[in-house]
Amino acid sequence: MTARETAVAVAHPNIALIKYWGKRDENLVLPFTDSLSMTLDVFPTTTAVRLDLDAAADHVVMDGAPARGEVLRRATTFLDLVRERAGRRERAVVDTRNTVPVGAGLASSAGGFAALALAAAHAYGLPRDAEQLSRLARRGSGSAARSVFGGFVVWHAGDPDAPDPDRASYAEPVMDARLDAALVAVVLEEGPKPVSSREAMRRTVATSPLYRDWVTDSRADLARMYTALHDGDMAVVGAITERNALGMHATMEAARPAVRYRTAATNAVLGHVRRLREEGVGAWATMDAGPNVKVLCACADAQRVADRMREATDARVVVARRGPGARLRQATA
Ligand code: PMV
Repeated sequence: MTARETAVAVAHPNIALIKYWGKRDENLVLPFTDSLSMTLDVFPTTTAVRLDLDAAADHVVMDGAPARGEVLRRATTFLDLVRERAGRRERAVVDTRNTVPVGAGLASSAGGFAALALAAAHAYGLPRDAEQLSRLARRGSGSAARSVFGGFVVWHAGDPDAPDPDRASYAEPVMDARLDAALVAVVLEEGPKPVSSREAMRRTVATSPLYRDWVTDSRADLARMYTALHDGDMAVVGAITERNALGMHATMEAARPAVRYRTAATNAVLGHVRRLREEGVGAWATMDAGPNVKVLCACADAQRVADRMREATDARVVVARRGPGARLRQATA
């Protein structure tokens, strides 16, 4: 495959119903557990990658401002991997635009690295079959492996004893999911999180006495989740989703020192969701590495759930449905 020099890709975030939390290999970004998510149709990231023959370093612009520090380091490390695979040396100019607050536990890195993986693979002339792209995106941010695909997606942790563990860990769509689901995002805070998910996972794996049990539980949750998705059973999907997220937060809250992403506002939203359920509306909460809550419900109930969340909080509330996988928008030779 020849290099295209310039490419633009769009990708959406995904929210895990069965979470990824903890790496067994930090360098290759290999998780301890399989995870399962829904790609959203909101908050896209658009990323342009252009090769620059004369540049001595990568130049990365995020939301109009030059990236520095950790953001620049992660992008450059990722581009180094792409260059190594492509056998090329040119530096890149990257322009990325998010429509989601970055670093607030709204999965901005998932859409971000899925878009960067696709645009960079195209610009540098790497093969772009979806499975390979998913492995590549994984190296940028684990959850990005899942944003390569649309709808419901499973990311296989891969067999740790496989001859090539990197090859064994990739995401793919859950083909027979029959669930008309929405995720209502309750955006309580838009600022970056106090502890990065990378550091929080590390601490949880190293020190939380609850981590092992969560891993065991998560495997059982996934097996049940497949059946429930196939059956289109929202109540079962919802119950597994909520308990898996609460379990993940419990593991990190038991770490030493504790990692606490939930705030009083988070707990209040969890209460509103519980009350909705008591009133007979199918609604279940999930949270990631931040205080924000996403409420899983049937598409038919999404408006009602969103209205209730707006009444009960002063949060920004956004209704998301199933969204598409990463795609190229325009590429010039
Ligand atoms: O992809 P990362 O390193 O930002 O980790 C994301 C982890 C969670 O969002 C908390 C869970 C998940 O599976 O997306």
